[in-house]
Amino acid sequence: MNDDAQQELLDLERKYCSWGDTVHYVDPPKCFARSEGSYLYDREGTPYLDLQMWYSASSFGYGNRRLNAALTRQLDTLPQLACQYLHPEKIELAAAIGRLNQSRFGVEGRVHFNVGGSQAIEDSLKIVRNATGKSLVFAFMGGYHGRTLAASAITSSYRYRRRYGHFSDRAHFVPFPYCFRCPYDKKVEDCDLYCLKQFERNFDTEYNSFWDAKAGESEFAAFYVEPIQGTGGYVIPPPGYFAGLRRVLDERHILMVDDEIQMGFYRAGKLWGIENFGVTPDMIVFGKALTNGLNPLSGVWAREDLITPDVFPPGSTHSTFSANTLGTAVALEVIRLTAEYDYEDTTRRKGAYFLAQLRDLQRRYPKIIGHTDGLGMALRLEICCEDGFQPDRELTDRIFAEGLKGDLVARGRRMGLVLDVGGYYKNVFTLAPAFDMADAEIDLAVELLEQLMRRCAPDRI
Ligand SMILES: Cc1ncc(COP(=O)(O)O)c(C=O)c1O
Repeated sequence: MNDDAQQELLDLERKYCSWGDTVHYVDPPKCFARSEGSYLYDREGTPYLDLQMWYSASSFGYGNRRLNAALTRQLDTLPQLACQYLHPEKIELAAAIGRLNQSRFGVEGRVHFNVGGSQAIEDSLKIVRNATGKSLVFAFMGGYHGRTLAASAITSSYRYRRRYGHFSDRAHFVPFPYCFRCPYDKKVEDCDLYCLKQFERNFDTEYNSFWDAKAGESEFAAFYVEPIQGTGGYVIPPPGYFAGLRRVLDERHILMVDDEIQMGFYRAGKLWGIENFGVTPDMIVFGKALTNGLNPLSGVWAREDLITPDVFPPGSTHSTFSANTLGTAVALEVIRLTAEYDYEDTTRRKGAYFLAQLRDLQRRYPKIIGHTDGLGMALRLEICCEDGFQPDRELTDRIFAEGLKGDLVARGRRMGLVLDVGGYYKNVFTLAPAFDMADAEIDLAVELLEQLMRRCAPDRI
């Protein structure tokens, strides 16, 4: 494609595509032509090392041959089927996820499929409301659960709700234990989980508005949690927090719904991110890497008593494309792949190798990097002003945009670097690299990051 053809495409996009998605967060928008392994390629064939892998949807690498083959096999056998009929892959996939959860948590449950994370969140809200008869839920400040109307109501950002009227069922948002920027100005070393205590105090008397002691009932049905905040900036909670939260919720008969859409499928070193914290959720919502990004299949697993057919009967929720044959076939192959390879070990080993280098970068560039952390291959790099604390959103944006220019030079070739920006202050690079990234590619990633920082903040090196 020549320059004129490319410009013509971009002109068409400007005129005919809605700008309501996130494409125009960068100007001009970026167009790619091919993807493979850990790389995206532009039309000139310039490789861009991708450290975000489609917001963790393609954790097993772009163009993963084994997973692509599963899709092709299904294309050649049963490519389409109305969701009111059964096909083996749907059943086997639900059984596999049910058994995995049973072995991990000792709890029986069922799976309901849909497409897209937000729709699975919607289904989970239906299950919560249906089982409890209540519609109010807790969620975390900095949390992200999607942008359909109901998902926006439990996502903390007011920007996502502002233009869409009144959200009567808006969640009550609770501060997340973001210890680098503690919402209560405490230090994690000696705070004794002060934030959890503050949450628990709300149940002390009926006049705190959450709890009727006479009835022994809370007005709230569930607490929606991300085990590690994704869009919020890959914020990892301190040890003991989730165990304490689970205790409070159990005492108040409130369900814990675990949103694993971004952290699920080994991103944080375990099948489910929440396993790192030793608690058992009542429901788990998943999507993204379930199909390595080849199909928008998503789902919700719920404890048997919440979703048993007597409680959640046929027709309770439905979508034309839910449990589609192509998606379930790839997802089943993802489950087989993760059963054969030790992704727990891989993600912990490679994540530790990557994090050690990020910490080294932080030591060498203290006037740019304020915080680094990671669990498995969910890594964070917080870009700050010279004091190492004030968020530097402007520099973050500059580094992000420079990476996308594709004019870095490393190992004798022109390259780009694909990053994603998250965080409460939009100053965090949330790194979700491909699990099979070679150590040499991690070294390359760090080299490219260093080049970008030196280029964008020469006065702070
Ligand atoms: C934790 C979490 N929940 C829900 C969603 C929404 O999923 P989707 O974008 O597929 O609707 C996302 C997407 O980024 C997410 O990270």
